[in-house]
Amino acid sequence: MFVKVQSATNLGLETTGVDVEINISNKGLPVFEIVGLAGRTVDESKERVRTAILNSKIEFPQKRIVVNLAPADVPKQGSFYDLALAVGILSLVMDLQLPEKSLFFGELSLDGALRHTKGCLLLALFAKENGFKNIFVPKESSNEAAIISGINVIPVESLNQLILHLLNKEKIEAAKYQKGDNANDLNVEFDMAEILGQEQAKRAAEIAAAGGHNIIMVGSPGSGKTMLARALPGIMPPLNERESLEVTKIYSAVGSIPPGGSLITCRPFRAPHHTASPVGLIGGGTKPHPGEVSLAHRGVLFLDEFNEFPRQVMEAMRQPLEDGYLTISRSKEIVRYPADFMLVASANPCPCGYFNHPKKNCVCTPRQIRKYQKRISGPILDRIDLHITVQPVDTGEFSDNQKNSELLESSETIRKRVILARKRQEERFEKDSIQSNAQMKNNHIKKYCKLAKEVEQLLRQASMKFQLSARSYMKMIKVARTIADLDGAPEITVSHMAEALQYRPKIYETI
Ligand SMILES: Nc1ncnc2c1ncn2[C@@H]1O[C@H](COP(=O)(O)OP(=O)(O)OP(=O)(O)O)[C@@H](O)[C@H]1O
Ligand SMILES: [Mg+2]
Repeated sequence: MFVKVQSATNLGLETTGVDVEINISNKGLPVFEIVGLAGRTVDESKERVRTAILNSKIEFPQKRIVVNLAPADVPKQGSFYDLALAVGILSLVMDLQLPEKSLFFGELSLDGALRHTKGCLLLALFAKENGFKNIFVPKESSNEAAIISGINVIPVESLNQLILHLLNKEKIEAAKYQKGDNANDLNVEFDMAEILGQEQAKRAAEIAAAGGHNIIMVGSPGSGKTMLARALPGIMPPLNERESLEVTKIYSAVGSIPPGGSLITCRPFRAPHHTASPVGLIGGGTKPHPGEVSLAHRGVLFLDEFNEFPRQVMEAMRQPLEDGYLTISRSKEIVRYPADFMLVASANPCPCGYFNHPKKNCVCTPRQIRKYQKRISGPILDRIDLHITVQPVDTGEFSDNQKNSELLESSETIRKRVILARKRQEERFEKDSIQSNAQMKNNHIKKYCKLAKEVEQLLRQASMKFQLSARSYMKMIKVARTIADLDGAPEITVSHMAEALQYRPKIYETI
């Protein structure tokens, strides 16, 4: 007796179809074998499937069962073949008719129930692109799969329920996508109105959010750098449809979408600690998985105490910062993860923290300061568009300011401006493959940022005076474009460029 059930495997964000071929024969000793480059996790399926079938009050055949996972040269890992395996065996034992063009995907529990399984969104996309009609997935993961319209997502709770469905006794209704109530959950810790003073830093944060620019804040302890970064999610624009799907795919692949979860609509905000491992931050491992840089895709990666991050991690970030993706190569596989994030870094200017402080004296030696500042490499600093010095706020003015804190602009007001500026960018880049000014390559800059003579002259003069690199030169144009977008101006003017130049790389030129 032979049957072929279709399933799939996810490697990174790529999905490949897998045929689960099952042969049951009376000849030979009773065994249950899985062949076809099956990893240890797949091999463990045998025990789960056998026990789940027995606990569903169905007899498990005491025969020679051989399973082949084809194509045999694709490495297979994970527990999601359980459902295809069980369905195949049951179809042979109980003479069930399996529907055509259907994929089976899901992990079994020992009692025969189906468990929430990661990667169902990727499976649904694969099914749609490859002309499948139905996908059978665990009920808890079905909403995630139902994001993709145009295919039947059959939510399965248990093996017994699936048998009744296949016997046409009790049909399971296809899942209908339910929007989550957390759709507008912004995950905000601070409101901009709570931050007193720091007008320039707030303005820089607004520009960064509007254009998706990387930003570094350097300042003395307790000046509000961390507070400002944590207020950023409140002024970030929401994800558009395309971005939402990209982000949700990554979270689906790592299994971070909760049972019943839906499309992610707010921008990710990741703030890993500097003691996190390089693999955790960048991605990789023997089974290549995405790191924080990919989990922050289309959102913010906040690296607090930037100088404390290991050099190896900083250097590894150079490629994703430039290209917006990360390639992880292993002997058996090459995985590419998107990693187009906005880097927000904060640092102190020296070990004691008071170098250049208007009132306190710095106790560090020039050598200590230089050593401390050198921990952030030049190439990384060069990839950051906005450099700002966060000055300490005068605590004497605090109480007056506090009285007026309701007069300060709230995150909501700033966010409205940011959203308008992003809309202008989306319209501009409608025919291009980018979404924000920060993503512009030279050809986009040439096309969309034509500079008037006097603007170009100002930029040239500044670039000679401050020894800007070619990359920084281009970045100044991108930042000026965002400032013009916030202003609603079609062209970059001298004042836009002059403001952009205030944020040029300058922090570490003082020593
Ligand atoms: N500008 C400000 N307005 C209101 N409160 C502030 C401001 N700056 C700092 N604070 C208060 O001080 C606390 C610490 O600030 P924060 O953690 O942002 O400092 P920091 O600049 O990150 O310091 P460090 O360099 O030590 O990390 C905040 O939680 C807040 O209560
Ligand atoms: Mg801090």
